[in-house]
Amino acid sequence: MPPTTTAAQSLWLAALPGTTYPQPSDERAFDVLVLGGGITGLTTALLLKGRGARVAVVEAGRIGAGVSGNNTAKVTALQSTVLTSIGSTRGTEVADEYAARSLAAVELVAELAADEGIDCDLQRRDAFTVAPRDEELADVEREFDAARRAGLPVEMTPSVDLPYPVSGAVRLRDQVEFHPVKYVGGLAAAVEGDGCRVFEGTRALGVTDRSPVRVETTHGPLTGDRVVVATHYPVWDRGLYFARVEASRSYCVAARVRGEPARGMSITTGSPTWSYRSAGDLMIVLGSDHPAGARGVGRSCYTAIEEHLREHWDVEEVTHRWSAQDPIPYDHTPMIGTYTPGSSRMYVATGFAKWGLSGGTMAAAILAEQLSGGPGSAAFSPHRVSPRGLAQLARLNAKVGADLVGDRLMPGRISSAAELAPGTAGVVRSGTERTGVYRDPDGGLHAVSMRCTHLGCLVRFNAAENSWDCPCHGSRFDVDGEVLEGPAVRPLPRRDPPGE
Ligand SMILES: Cc1cc2nc3c(=O)[nH]c(=O)nc-3n(C[C@H](O)[C@H](O)[C@H](O)COP(=O)(O)OP(=O)(O)OC[C@H]3O[C@@H](n4cnc5c(N)ncnc54)[C@H](O)[C@@H]3O)c2cc1C
Ligand code: FES
Repeated sequence: MPPTTTAAQSLWLAALPGTTYPQPSDERAFDVLVLGGGITGLTTALLLKGRGARVAVVEAGRIGAGVSGNNTAKVTALQSTVLTSIGSTRGTEVADEYAARSLAAVELVAELAADEGIDCDLQRRDAFTVAPRDEELADVEREFDAARRAGLPVEMTPSVDLPYPVSGAVRLRDQVEFHPVKYVGGLAAAVEGDGCRVFEGTRALGVTDRSPVRVETTHGPLTGDRVVVATHYPVWDRGLYFARVEASRSYCVAARVRGEPARGMSITTGSPTWSYRSAGDLMIVLGSDHPAGARGVGRSCYTAIEEHLREHWDVEEVTHRWSAQDPIPYDHTPMIGTYTPGSSRMYVATGFAKWGLSGGTMAAAILAEQLSGGPGSAAFSPHRVSPRGLAQLARLNAKVGADLVGDRLMPGRISSAAELAPGTAGVVRSGTERTGVYRDPDGGLHAVSMRCTHLGCLVRFNAAENSWDCPCHGSRFDVDGEVLEGPAVRPLPRRDPPGE
């Protein structure tokens, strides 16, 4: 079956409202500035507003259009084999706390949606971690043990509602699926008003950590007694977050299927990983994971998922394709707390490892408590050292070193932009400089420096998304160099297309 040509767009972002929030003008001083208008930032802002703070949310683009609008929208405390991973790296106490807080976060999502009257297609669904083959059964049983020890009401089941046989699964009943863009949009509407503001189209550029904290933005400075950095990747390097996480990218396909889609929220263990949920008559499948900025990424990331869909369901039409990435911490646990060890004014939440709908909500609950004078959570402190994760930390940074040096030694691939066919990209080398050139389907050329504005690694072309992606810490840029994802905050410099 040939691949269909549906443009890459998230099913959820189709519901992005036409109206926008303004940029800052007269009001510039607040109790708390929350940077980032995803689920983490907006939940934090709403909880702080509930505690009487005057909060401003500062969003570079559109509310909910970051990773919060580009996922599979499952809100569950059963998350593949995460509890086993946390237990083996951080110990069972941390795994138990993670499980309990994740379960509370699922309920907080349901509560906020009900209290604020957010119409976000929220439904209770069972979540499953599935062993597709006998080889994976032991992993699934270990996760069952970890979840049960942590107090989650899990059970083992021999079958799930997938159209192929499996070897067994853990089930956690009554978790939540929702429409993330509608949910996050509802949070923003609840934040706005009574002295609190939501700003869109306003990128934070720099911060001065003094009292009050001053944040420079693309629309002038803002001040706050405290700042929460909820920009997905922390945008300032002083906490060295970029060196402690690895960005992993995944791809999603939604297809209209004949017959009943699988209604459970399942994820398989082992490789390849498949994650499933439904939305009305659509079946949504996630797969094709790879480290951000990997070499040779192309449309096969989508076609592999489409083939899997067609193998197991009667597909009428592929309706949506999208992809996104999330930072995976070296020790599998999110980082939630003060930005740097000494700071009492700057806070951060990151590293949700593709479970940030519950993780970002959990972070918001922790930060709201911490900013109100509570202790926060030592288990998730960004400044912990996890001895059992150090080998992974070394591996991450060795890979960055190899990417930094290796790509600089690679020859330029084309000698002139004239060689490029529409819809393709190439690299032109001149001395030590590399220029990345993309020819759009109308024949127009887009040329940018390939030196990532974060720490200088060379970006690579992602042919599935038509973007320049950095292998070192996952920054992404569009074909004109604009930042799509951090940690970079500055665009790639534009160049004249060489050799035309
Ligand atoms: C493919 C995929 C599937 C996933 N599926 C699930 C799932 O089913 N369940 C689950 O729990 N989790 C899932 N996740 C993870 C989850 O979506 C994320 O962890 C979560 O949405 C992160 O939310 P956030 O608010 O921290 O980040 P975001 O939603 O990305 O929000 C951060 C915001 O900050 C803004 N920003 C960035 N820089 C600046 C700046 N300098 N100034 C101002 N604003 C800035 C961005 O524009 C963005 O809107 C998935 C992740 C991926 C990649
Ligand atoms: S993201 Fe760090 S060097 Fe590119």
